[in-house]
Amino acid sequence: MRTLLVTGGAGFIGANFVHYMLTRESNDRIIVYDKLTYAGRRENLAAVADHPRFLFVQGDICEMAQVRATVEQYNVDTIVNFAAESHVDRSILDPDAFVKTDVYGVYVLCEVVKQMGLARLHHVSTDEVYGPIAEGKFREDDRFMPTSPYAASKASGELIALSYYRTYGLPLTITRGVNTYGPYQYPEKAIPLFITNAIDDIPLPLYGNGLQVRDRLYVTDHASAIAFVLEHGKPGEAYNIAADMEKTNLEVAQRIVQALGKPAALIQFVKDRPAHDVRYALATEKLTALGWQASVSFEEGFERTVRWYQENENWWRPIKSGDWLDYYRKQYTER
Ligand code: NAD
Ligand code: TYD
Repeated sequence: MRTLLVTGGAGFIGANFVHYMLTRESNDRIIVYDKLTYAGRRENLAAVADHPRFLFVQGDICEMAQVRATVEQYNVDTIVNFAAESHVDRSILDPDAFVKTDVYGVYVLCEVVKQMGLARLHHVSTDEVYGPIAEGKFREDDRFMPTSPYAASKASGELIALSYYRTYGLPLTITRGVNTYGPYQYPEKAIPLFITNAIDDIPLPLYGNGLQVRDRLYVTDHASAIAFVLEHGKPGEAYNIAADMEKTNLEVAQRIVQALGKPAALIQFVKDRPAHDVRYALATEKLTALGWQASVSFEEGFERTVRWYQENENWWRPIKSGDWLDYYRKQYTER
């Protein structure tokens, strides 16, 4: 039996990972440790709140004493780190929290794993650390060339973690996933933003010409890949996660209006994001050679996602009228 501290487990991918871990055959105990920023929500974990192998602790990964106390109290042996500031546009407006959580916070987790002799730190990273690539795909040993403050903070956090592996032999694994989508994703990210706007007949804001390419991965496949690397990954190694589903933003927006029976005129081209990365793409032979494969096609994942937002308005309506509105007003009037 393992006891996993899932940091950032009340956010989008973290919550889906917790659901995934608690519904499969295992004895793992899951302690979610989450600061509950605007992106972290207890509602995301409501379905497992009474599960006998689940507990929730509110806390910040930048607070070493609190992380240590939680590890000690619950006999944690493995940390899986999802905690991050995760939205590129917010990092462009205000990078401060990104540097704190995505860099310093990762350092704190490395220190705790080292000081307390834990069995594993699994760090969840992103394709954005490599930066954009017009053609071809990045492999795990390619150099980092991040663009946004978000991507640079994630790259820096990873470099700190890798230094702990190289210097102290920290039992570290890393995954770098592509753009992920599915239930519980905060409606500031492109897919849930477009779906919820279309439901309300609000324009879908496409940055620039809309021809930027992202490889799209359904969230349960991202969760299963992380669980797989926890079991089969080699310490000191990073693994790309993708399933070869590249789409332009324009194509995604068109599919959304079509699926919801809305007019294409709802798609509106707006000012481009500064230094907008034109394409991300990852080679995945390292992970597939170990035996992992994705199981949800884009068509299936897309249909499930649209349906989830249609059926769960009570989840997203409260967040689209508060903090979210202020943020978008700021973004579109001050740039
Ligand atoms: P998210 O923004 O939905 O969730 C982040 C979670 O971290 C929230 O629950 C938040 O409360 C928590 N958090 C933030 N700061 C914290 C702190 N200091 N201490 C403790 N908890 C804190 O993000 P997500 O989309 O679920 O992404 C999760 C991880 O996966 C991130 O590390 C992100 O970089 C990475 N990733 C995301 C994608 C994607 O497409 N969403 C793709 C690849 C990798
Ligand atoms: P996003 O979901 O923010 O993820 P990332 O920037 O991490 O890839 O954006 C996905 C793509 O969609 C990206 O190319 C930016 C674009 N985009 C828009 O065109 N309009 C929007 O309102 C948003 C949020 C994103």
